[in-house]
Amino acid sequence: MSIMALLLWLGLSLLVAVQSSGVKNCHPGCHCEVESFGLFDSFSLTRVDCRGLGPRASMPIPIPLDTAHLDLSSIAMGPLSDTMLAGPGYTTLVSLDLSDNHITKVSPNALSKLRYLETLDLSHNHLERLSSGFFSGLPLAEVDLSHNSFHEFDMDLFATKVNSEPLTVDLSYNKLVSVLASLHGRILHIQTLNLSANQLSSAPTLAGLPLRYLNLDGNPITQIKKGTFAQLKDLVYLSISGLNELRLIEPYSFKGLHSLQVLDLSNNPKLKNLSLAVFSGLDSLQELNLSGSGVESLPTKILTHLPSIKSITLGRNIQCWRTQKQGQFHRQMGQVYHNEVLTCNVEGILL
Ligand SMILES: *[C@@H]1O[C@H](CO)[C@@H](O)[C@H](O)[C@H]1NC(C)=O
Ligand SMILES: *[C@@H]1O[C@H](CO)[C@@H](O)[C@H](O)[C@H]1NC(C)=O
Ligand SMILES: *[C@@H]1O[C@H](CO)[C@@H](O)[C@H](O)[C@H]1NC(C)=O
Repeated sequence: MSIMALLLWLGLSLLVAVQSSGVKNCHPGCHCEVESFGLFDSFSLTRVDCRGLGPRASMPIPIPLDTAHLDLSSIAMGPLSDTMLAGPGYTTLVSLDLSDNHITKVSPNALSKLRYLETLDLSHNHLERLSSGFFSGLPLAEVDLSHNSFHEFDMDLFATKVNSEPLTVDLSYNKLVSVLASLHGRILHIQTLNLSANQLSSAPTLAGLPLRYLNLDGNPITQIKKGTFAQLKDLVYLSISGLNELRLIEPYSFKGLHSLQVLDLSNNPKLKNLSLAVFSGLDSLQELNLSGSGVESLPTKILTHLPSIKSITLGRNIQCWRTQKQGQFHRQMGQVYHNEVLTCNVEGILL
């Protein structure tokens, strides 16, 4: 290492050094830790871990005044009332873990004091609904509602979020049969939405959400209809994998997905036929995964619809790449586009 690099390294390590120390006034049964960082420890934040504290804890559990991260998971909390998260110190929380707490109900203003809350984990509870103002005024960036009992969910619940930071919402492992986005002209900043392992029988229309990542894996969807994703022009990643009943993807189903880079259609065993028009509009698609699906061959002219494709996976272990015709690959098949061809590690893939 040169002297300069050494000095730089010393300087950086001084800046990011995190020191932890014990905290006075930590509630018995919780573990509190102060993390200091910055030059001369100029910043500090407290992390409080009360995981598994036990059902007799009286709420709100006292926490140090500068607590940023609070873990209240697995304490058999039960229904969440307006006062349980309204103690001193709660106002400054940036993240809160309420997972695995047998929460069946939450009162509408339960989070109203948490004005800086960015990360909320309510996973592994028994929630069926949330009242409309529940997230009101919170600067949320990440909300985990997975492993609950929602049957229906309207994304407009997030319309009252105060800032325009992108939001990630995990609704996987619920009982969702319908997901709505009734915006009424409002703007939702949801960028990542995980709807995997639900009971959706068709892909929801999420028009108006600026989604970049959407996961629909493991739903009982039987067909994807033309135009389903027409409005999701910002979508970069779409996963429709592990659908045991998916038989048909209609032509032009992905039309409008101009930004899509990755399309995961793997492990859809009943999906056999894909017409050329299915791939229409996928101008930016780089990766197509059809591994473990019933699709055994690809339409010959597929590259004309997929100008940006880099790799296609199908069958058990078949990989195809777009290559220049003059390449060294000796098993080139199906001339497709200008002097570019699709080259696979197994022959006879193209129709
Ligand atoms: C979505 O949920 C599935 C199932 O829980 C999980 O495997 C996947 O990593 C999740 N994706 C994101 C981006 O959270
Ligand atoms: C699959 O495609 C072939 C050839 O295009 C067609 O004959 C057949 O009817 C299609 N099957 C289904 C289930 O759409
Ligand atoms: C395609 O999907 C399969 C199954 O989900 C996965 O194991 C594999 O890694 C994926 N391949 C690529 C290239 O992403």
